[in-house]
Order: sequence, then structure tokens, then C-alpha cells
Amino acid sequence: MALLRILQYPDERLHLAAERVTVFDEALKSLVADMKETMYAAPGVGLAATQVDVQKQVIVIDLSEAKDKPMILVNPEITAMSGKSDVEEGCLSVPGIFENVDRAERVTVTAQDDEGNTFEIHADGLLSICIQHEIDHLKGKVFVEYLSRLKQTRILAKMKKLARERM
Ligand code: NI
Repeated sequence: MALLRILQYPDERLHLAAERVTVFDEALKSLVADMKETMYAAPGVGLAATQVDVQKQVIVIDLSEAKDKPMILVNPEITAMSGKSDVEEGCLSVPGIFENVDRAERVTVTAQDDEGNTFEIHADGLLSICIQHEIDHLKGKVFVEYLSRLKQTRILAKMKKLARERM
């Protein structure tokens, strides 16, 4: 396994759309293992392949306290959504920024596991928010893009400062 580098906003590659996975092979399992390791090390509760510069529709999520219940969503698709929610979100690609985002309260999602088996999830609460956030990543959308122009400008300035400090 290997730790992967997480792209930092406003890296343009965060805006690339991911392609559907059609081959469920060892390379996919290896990507999933690396993504889980990278998410746990960060530490974070969700990671989309887009964030590690892989344009494949793969998401890992783990909301458990013990960090021992990873969910793997390959080719996830929201088939139904209902209700409204407005919860504070953060993102490993936008460190230190936490903002409220309007989302659906509940979602129904069809996805595959890393063997290609199809399953359906009915999610609410934090899991619902997390799935919507990560599926956005696969479409090339970062959560800060839901915010006002003014907030986005401030966040961009903060991220540029962080990038300078890292050099
Ligand atoms: Ni994120």
C-alpha cells in the first residue's frame, strides 16, 4: 500500500470528471487500498479518486469511530434525493476551511463494490452529506464552489498563502 498525494484546491485537476470503472481487477483493489490508507492517514472521513489525481469513479468513506468500517463506492449514482440539509463541511483538498452547504437530507445511491457487485444504499445524516460531497468530486466539483463569490475569493487567498508556506 502507499500514501497518495491529495490535490490541493484550487488545483485544476480537481475539476476533471471521473470515468466509469469497467474493469474490476487487482489495479482497482490496489487503488482502493491506497485511497483508504490515504484517507485514514490524513485523517479524513471520505476521499474521491479525483482528489488523488485518478479520474475513475471511486469513493471511500468511513464514518465509524474506530475507523474500521470502510465503504467503497464504485460508479456511484444518486437515484433519489429528498429533504433539505445545511451542515458544515470540510475537505482534505481544502484544509482548514469549514462552511455550511445546502444539500439533500436523504439520498438513495446505487453503486458497485470493488468486485463489481451492485448494491443500493439509503443514506441520511452525515453519510448522506458525505456521499453527495464525494460524488461532487467525481464530477469535478469542490464544495467551496457552492459558496458566495466573496467567500470563494477569501478561501482562494487563504489557499495561496498555505501553498506559499509549504514551499
Ligand atoms: Ni472533499
